Amino acid sequence: MKGKIIVTGGCGYIGSHTVVSLIEDGYEVVVFDNLSNSKELILDRIREITGIRPTFEKIDLADESQAKEAYRKHSNTDAIINFAAYKAVGESVKEPIMYYRNNMFSLLNTLQGQIDNNIKNIIFSSSATVYGEPDSLPITEKNETKRPFSPYGNTKKVAEEILEDLTKVNSGFSAISLRYFNPIGAHGSGLIGEFPSGVPNNLLPYVTQCAAGVLDELKVFGNDYPTKDGTPIRDYIHVVDLAEAHVIAVNRLLNDKNKSNFEVFNLGTGIGYTVLDVIDTFESVTGINLNYSMAERRDGDVAVLYAATDLARDELGWEARYGLKDMISSAWKWEQDLRTSLNRL
Ligand code: UFG
Repeated sequence: MKGKIIVTGGCGYIGSHTVVSLIEDGYEVVVFDNLSNSKELILDRIREITGIRPTFEKIDLADESQAKEAYRKHSNTDAIINFAAYKAVGESVKEPIMYYRNNMFSLLNTLQGQIDNNIKNIIFSSSATVYGEPDSLPITEKNETKRPFSPYGNTKKVAEEILEDLTKVNSGFSAISLRYFNPIGAHGSGLIGEFPSGVPNNLLPYVTQCAAGVLDELKVFGNDYPTKDGTPIRDYIHVVDLAEAHVIAVNRLLNDKNKSNFEVFNLGTGIGYTVLDVIDTFESVTGINLNYSMAERRDGDVAVLYAATDLARDELGWEARYGLKDMISSAWKWEQDLRTSLNRL
């Protein structure tokens, strides 16, 4: 074994893919999850893929005593990857306290667990939302961070600031914050993927559920943006590529290759696609015609977001391997397999 890694939120979408990549890279993995937005069955799926079912602790990290106990039990850990958080932008606007309580308390309890048990390394799951409406494109890590549009986004920004403060005074600790652009896609096996609860907010799950007949019609939120077809541009990134970047970040910390105690990296492809590009690619990859129509802009949406990928390439040696077609075909495979298994239950 290369080392022991705690993955908080390891049953979730990006967490589960990262657990697979860590196991494949030779790490021992312990998953902390309260299953509030995920299923324990995912651990069996991870075993199907890797041959190993990670150790599982069902705990609510926002609860101080549960977190303390769990970190004490696994004090011989080399690094933590922190995914455990609520992530629905719209819900966070309606329920800010719930978001701040869950996302901040669970992070603070995790950091306290690190301090109490001398666990020196943490990788934090951040988001391009910390850039707000960017002043220049592509977005580099030097772009100014701004007050995000949503409480969800603000939990990411504040969390980064906490990590920066902590690593400043505690030179034995190192943190890497990974700022994701738009993660989509699923593991090639079709065994793990995104399983949004309720009606999805994000584009890809909405598209795949429309194509599967679960939803009737896709609304395209705004076609009067200053882009080639009027719809917003995003930098979609395959979740398997993201997962691999986390393993590289862990290796970097464990091998003392980081250049400072607090580092941030964008994770994107550097390529922007409009909403209509995504729809066209979905239709050409799957042969399914989507039922969609134009609608009003959605509050808080930015016209164009895409990453500068130079820093991740030069420092981490990481570049996205998969393109939009792969992302879409894997998401569609996952959606179909999911519907089949749900029908069987
Ligand atoms: N969209 C539609 N119809 C839908 C859903 C989305 O037209 O039903 C459009 C949106 O308006 C946007 C694009 O598809 O133009 C992408 O929207 P997503 O909701 O999939 O993604 P966002 O870029 O809004 O959100 C992502 C992450 C958030 C993060 C945010 C800002 O999901 O976690 O980027 O970085 F906060």
